[in-house]
Amino acid sequence: MGRGHATQIDPATVGVDEAQENRAGESGSYCVGVAALPPDYDTDPARVRSGDRAWQVFGDVHEPVAARIQAEALVPVLDVGGGHGRLEELLPAGWPAFVLDPSPTQLAEALLLKARADARRLPISEASVGAVAMLWMLYHLEDPAAAISEARRVLRPGGLFAASTSARNNDPELTDGYPPTTFDAEEAAEIVASVFGDVTVERWDGPMTRLPDHDAVLRYCRSHLLPAEAAERVTPPVWLTKRGCLVYARKRSARGAR
Ligand SMILES: C[S@@+](CC[C@H](N)C(=O)[O-])C[C@H]1O[C@@H](n2cnc3c(N)ncnc32)[C@H](O)[C@@H]1O
Repeated sequence: MGRGHATQIDPATVGVDEAQENRAGESGSYCVGVAALPPDYDTDPARVRSGDRAWQVFGDVHEPVAARIQAEALVPVLDVGGGHGRLEELLPAGWPAFVLDPSPTQLAEALLLKARADARRLPISEASVGAVAMLWMLYHLEDPAAAISEARRVLRPGGLFAASTSARNNDPELTDGYPPTTFDAEEAAEIVASVFGDVTVERWDGPMTRLPDHDAVLRYCRSHLLPAEAAERVTPPVWLTKRGCLVYARKRSARGAR
């Protein structure tokens, strides 16, 4: 998965429920001059496999998103760019949830309800789903706002949108900064707000990933597209400072942009 894959949330310590209202800029205007992160899921599947969820001591965003979907009884669920289908694994058995992803390699590990599809053109009817998740994937798109607009199109009024990403100053123990992408935590809320209007943002900034030994550090670097030399900056066991955000938005009405 992309570099955000191993970012975690610890609601107890990092200020979940920090609600922010964000007003829109123009769709796509945040992405000028910044390249999307090229997907490598079919060309280098070993990179994704080099990561390990066990390092994420406090879990990932999938847990709180699945809990909110369940609490609000949102059906059906579309997990766009859903990869291995982690979100679906966390929903109760039989919950109508579909993984859409363009990568056959990623989809091979997902549960039964899955299909190849691109976030920019969802093969789904307008106003027909209860929730759309775009977790750790919008940085792969040159114009994330276009995909978010697709999510809004297929949501029913009252439906929930969720997207997550990491910050450029994530993992400061290993890097002085990740290269900018089209959907980093620094701008993610504004980009989602450019489509939905108001958003709610949950941010984290704290030690959340524990790498037990040098091999884990090397594998983490590989999974996050960091050079192997970055591993020399730390002495394991090491805690990494994770920085990122989870953005929620709701489709308010059947017509109009907001
Ligand atoms: C880092 S993985 C995240 C997978 C999953 N959302 C999760 O959180 O575990 C990014 C996923 O985005 C998918 N992806 C890349 N480009 C996409 C696109 N244009 N439309 C939909 N999904 C895309 C990749 O195939 C990959 O499965």
